[in-house]
Amino acid sequence: MASSQTLTTLFIFSLLTISYAATDPFKLPKPSNIIHFPIRKNQTSLQYYTTFLAGNPQSRTEVNALIDLGAQAVWFDCTSYVSSSYKRAACGSNRCKKALGSVCVGCNSTPRPGCSNNTCGVYAFNPLTEYLTAQELGEDTVSVTSSNGYYLGLSYDVPKFQFSCADTGIVEGLPGDYTKGLVGFARTDVSLVSQVSSVFGLAKKFALCIPASTDKGLGDIFIGGGPYYMPPREEDLSLDLSSTPLVINPVSTAPIFSEGDASDEYFINVKSIEVDNKRVAFNSSLLSIDSNGVGGTKISTVVPYTILHSSIYKPLVKNFVKAAAVDGIKRVASVAPFGACFDAKTAPKTLNGPAVPDIDLVLEGINIWFKLYGSNTMVEVKKNVICLAFVDGGAEPRTSIVLGGHQLENRVLEFDLAASKLGFSQPLQLWNTSCSQSRLF
Ligand SMILES: *[C@@H]1O[C@H](CO)[C@@H](O)[C@H](O)[C@H]1NC(C)=O
Ligand SMILES: *[C@@H]1O[C@H](CO)[C@@H](O)[C@H](O)[C@H]1NC(C)=O
Ligand SMILES: *[C@@H]1O[C@H](CO)[C@@H](O)[C@H](O)[C@H]1NC(C)=O
Ligand SMILES: *[C@@H]1O[C@H](CO)[C@@H](O)[C@H](O)[C@H]1NC(C)=O
Repeated sequence: MASSQTLTTLFIFSLLTISYAATDPFKLPKPSNIIHFPIRKNQTSLQYYTTFLAGNPQSRTEVNALIDLGAQAVWFDCTSYVSSSYKRAACGSNRCKKALGSVCVGCNSTPRPGCSNNTCGVYAFNPLTEYLTAQELGEDTVSVTSSNGYYLGLSYDVPKFQFSCADTGIVEGLPGDYTKGLVGFARTDVSLVSQVSSVFGLAKKFALCIPASTDKGLGDIFIGGGPYYMPPREEDLSLDLSSTPLVINPVSTAPIFSEGDASDEYFINVKSIEVDNKRVAFNSSLLSIDSNGVGGTKISTVVPYTILHSSIYKPLVKNFVKAAAVDGIKRVASVAPFGACFDAKTAPKTLNGPAVPDIDLVLEGINIWFKLYGSNTMVEVKKNVICLAFVDGGAEPRTSIVLGGHQLENRVLEFDLAASKLGFSQPLQLWNTSCSQSRLF
């Protein structure tokens, strides 16, 4: 059968690459397919982070870094970073401009990576604490791992990888004491994606498979395009994506920007919202982005639960509560920050999570629905209590809908920057799989 033949071929490919990897991992030609990074989740802070190796081959440092889809660049703590190949960027250099550097920084203690005078400073932002600072731009080799979408392959060096050395204040608030940096995926030249895809000549696209839990296996970041395999499903998921255009917000959403800059975050066009196929009534002008960059829908990996403008949140909760009552689901006292909670015993567990009314985001395109079932709409806050996992963003948020982690988990999300579109799969549980597949590790 065709599909099992494909799997056999992939398996052989994998064995070959693994044995090469053991002999000479760093001196081989560039990868022919994809670069892979893992995704881990911290269940307390509900944040996602990845891991990579930086520095010269003799002294690589393992870096855990928060995944921030909307951030422009990469930064990490260089306090105990020792690497003979590290190079700071001079103030005003071309490298500095390309990395959006706009200030000069200096340092009063012993010179080390992150501490030198007359150096290019780039702005970095911690989205969890909202701490903003200018810090030294550096470059060094980063080691990355290839994949065929099924197994991990060889490791490759990305030389001259641009990042900044974090100041001590900005690292605070990151999950655990092991996350000491941040990787940005925004539409810039210095995002993780741009740097990795341009050095290997890969397609300018990346996919995320964000796990709900990483106790049993890790999630995936694929840079360069498919295939994407999530066993036991044997078919390539990249062939099974719905797609909707990525929309440009004309006004930057970065913490520091110049007048006239567009946002480099990822916005999509939600046309309406339905609960059990019935449209939720609210002022639809909230769904478009005006000339001041206000309104619309963006995707964020640092927001744990989707945040809605009050004028969307309130009718959504109302409609949901009504539809749940029709289904015999018993409402119980709300648990903050959520506005509607239910007795879990009255919403039996299914493959798609608790059996509750469906919420669909109707997206731009012909018949494009981003379907959300119980596993993406409900969260268990205590024994037998499940809550609608959306948060009220108040009456004047800049962006009307910020789609957050819980609603993005367990499906493939492919950001195609060249074609400017978002591809997304059905929830993976429909194929009895998830983003927590351990096969790649
Ligand atoms: C930077 O310049 C200041 C003032 O000249 C000096 O005291 C300091 O040691 C220098 N720092 C480094 C890291 O060279
Ligand atoms: C998750 O992050 C929190 C907050 O930073 C930290 O206290 C906790 O130890 C982390 N959990 C794990 C399992 O690492
Ligand atoms: C919808 O919101 C827009 C912008 O806030 C406002 O100008 C318009 O009057 C509202 N329309 C309705 C029907 O309330
Ligand atoms: C998933 O598993 C369920 C229950 O184990 C089974 O009934 C169903 O057929 C499976 N679906 C697929 C697509 O394999």
